[in-house]
Amino acid sequence: MNIAIIGYGKMGKLLESISLQRGHNVVSIIDTDNTNDFHSVRFKSADVALEFTTPQTAVDNIRKAWEAEVKVVCGTTGWTSELPKLITELGNNGKSLFWASNFSLGVNLFWELNRQIAELLNRFPQYNVSIEEIHHIHKKDAPSGTAVTLAETICSATDAKNGWTLLPDKQKDKIEIAAIRQGNVFGIHTTKYESKEDIITFTHEAKSREGFALGAVLAAEFVCDKKGYFTMNDLLKIS
Ligand SMILES: NC(=O)c1ccc[n+]([C@@H]2O[C@H](COP(=O)([O-])OP(=O)(O)OC[C@H]3O[C@@H](n4cnc5c(N)ncnc54)[C@H](O)[C@@H]3O)[C@@H](O)[C@H]2O)c1
Repeated sequence: MNIAIIGYGKMGKLLESISLQRGHNVVSIIDTDNTNDFHSVRFKSADVALEFTTPQTAVDNIRKAWEAEVKVVCGTTGWTSELPKLITELGNNGKSLFWASNFSLGVNLFWELNRQIAELLNRFPQYNVSIEEIHHIHKKDAPSGTAVTLAETICSATDAKNGWTLLPDKQKDKIEIAAIRQGNVFGIHTTKYESKEDIITFTHEAKSREGFALGAVLAAEFVCDKKGYFTMNDLLKIS
């Protein structure tokens, strides 16, 4: 498969090496200094582009890749308010988008486990759920896309909460998310279910960025012969 990489930062470099390890050709790499390459023959020869840039640039990059008739796997977080519009644009026009706020298998299992736990604890309203996420100091968005998906997943299985809010803002009917930025942390997400008597906690901790990059390349392999909008649920068939 021919792969293009949009965004040659921490993730982009890892995506290049895992793509090559899995026997793919990396035909084009675009960063801020060569954005005209979207019009190049090499970029247009890609089956799939892996987009890992910034919340401000992701939507534009996805549209540019579509114009070049290249399918897109996007992992950039912090822009999801635009996602419904893009899914509508996809229509039946032969375009493809695979988006995930987190491509790691473990995180996707963690989301599903939390959905099941929230469903069980919905019968015990004395437990209040909250989320804490910790990431490296360079992360640009807060809360993390992973924490937002986690909150939405829990909300889908519980009556007591109908959304999330970022601390210090507090609202009784919203899941409170604490976003902490420290050191080089790859990503730690904890859900806490607290009653007056006790606390139940669940934590997922990423040991490196490799799990994200591998998941994104697997998503590219999945989407390369498909049209439409896909997520990790389609790839992993967890729920
Ligand atoms: N979904 C996941 O599993 C997952 C995992 C890790 C990171 N991420 C997300 O991926 C994104 C990138 O993360 P990172 O750690 O690689 O960041 P990074 O800052 O190391 O790299 C981003 C790169 O994008 C480039 N860039 C900026 N604007 C661009 C443009 N218009 N066109 C092309 N390139 C452009 C920057 O110059 C930089 O090289 C972030 O939004 C992060 O939250 C998602």
